[in-house]
Amino acid sequence: MSFLKGATVGYDTVNNKAVFIDQTLLPSKYTEVFTDDYGEMYDAVKSLKVRGAPAIGVFAGICIAVLINKAESEDYNTLFAKLEKICNDFVKCRPTAVNLKWALEKMLCEGKRSKEDIKENLKALALKMIDDDVAVCRKIGEYGAELLKDKNAVLTHCNAGRLAAVKYGTALAPVYVAKEQGHSIKVFADETRPLLQGARLTAFELKNDGIDTTLICDNTAATVMASGKIQAVLVGCDRVARNGDTANKIGTLGVAILAKHYGIPFYVCMPFSTFDFTISDGSKIVIEERNPEEVTDFWYKERMAPTGVNVLNYAFDVTPAPLVTAFITEKGVIRPSEIEKYI
Ligand code: MRU
Repeated sequence: MSFLKGATVGYDTVNNKAVFIDQTLLPSKYTEVFTDDYGEMYDAVKSLKVRGAPAIGVFAGICIAVLINKAESEDYNTLFAKLEKICNDFVKCRPTAVNLKWALEKMLCEGKRSKEDIKENLKALALKMIDDDVAVCRKIGEYGAELLKDKNAVLTHCNAGRLAAVKYGTALAPVYVAKEQGHSIKVFADETRPLLQGARLTAFELKNDGIDTTLICDNTAATVMASGKIQAVLVGCDRVARNGDTANKIGTLGVAILAKHYGIPFYVCMPFSTFDFTISDGSKIVIEERNPEEVTDFWYKERMAPTGVNVLNYAFDVTPAPLVTAFITEKGVIRPSEIEKYI
C-alpha cells in the first residue's frame, strides 16, 4: 500500500516522518523511504534519491518540520537555534537549485515569526508547500498545454516531470494536462548522461502514464530536430537569473542552441520561485560539480573509462536568455524581456 499515492515526496504526520521515493532505484524498484534522520535526509538529496528542483525544495521543508517536531525541547530559543543550524547546513547540499534555498528561507522566516507555536507552524508550512507545489505545477501545465494546442511532438531533457516535483512536474505538466484535455503529445526524451534521468525517470513516468515516448541518446537530439519531428522543446530549470539566463541539467544549453538553429520554440517550465532576482545573470549561478565516478562507473557493472582519466562532471549548465522563447510559470507565460516587470 503506497503512502505517497502518486506523489514523489510526502509528510507522514502521524509518525512524524519525511517520505520519499528512492529515485536511484528506479525504474527497476519502487521503494518508499520513511525517515526522521537528518543524515539520511541530507544523503537523500545529495545522492539524488530525491532530485529535481521543486521536489528538493518541498522535501527540505518537510525534513525541517520533521526534525523540529522530533526535538524533545519545547523551548523556543533552543528550537530556533536548531532550525537555523540545520538550514545553514542543508542549503549547501545542492548549490544550483534555488528551490532548496527558497524553501529553507521560508522555514527560517516562519521559525522567526513563530514563538511557542514553532513546531505546529513549521508543520503547517511544510504541508502547505506540498499543496502549493501541486497547484503551481497544475497551472504551469494549463498554460503550457495552451501553447501545445497545434503541436504533436516535443523534446525534453533530464527529468522535470512528476518525479521532479510533488505531482505533475514542470516541463511534463503541459503534456499531462494536454492528455487530460484529449490532446496526445508524443515526447522524445534525451537519456541525459551521466545519471540517465531521461532514460530511468522521464521514460518511466511517461510510459506509466500511457504517453507515446521515444527515448533517444543525447547525441540524437540534433537528428530528430533536423528531421522535423519536434515542434517544441520543454525543459525544467534550477535557477533563472534576473536577465533570464537559465541553469538546468548539463546538456540543456546544447539543446537550446539546436532548437534555435532549427527554429523550434524552447520553453522553460518552472515555478515563479525559481527566478532568483538576487543575481543579475547566469555567470553568478554556482554550477554543482559532482563525483567523477558518476561519469566513469556509476550505472554500469564495469568501468566505462580508463582509471585515472581526467573527468569534468558539471551537473548543470546555463542557457543564455536569448535562446529561451519563454518561461512557462504559474503566473503565465513570461518572455525573457518581460522579467524586469516582475522584480
Ligand atoms: O540533478 P537533478 O536530477 O536534480 O537535475 C534536475 C534538473 O536539471 C531538472 O530539469 C530541474 O531540476 C527542474 S525539475 C522540475
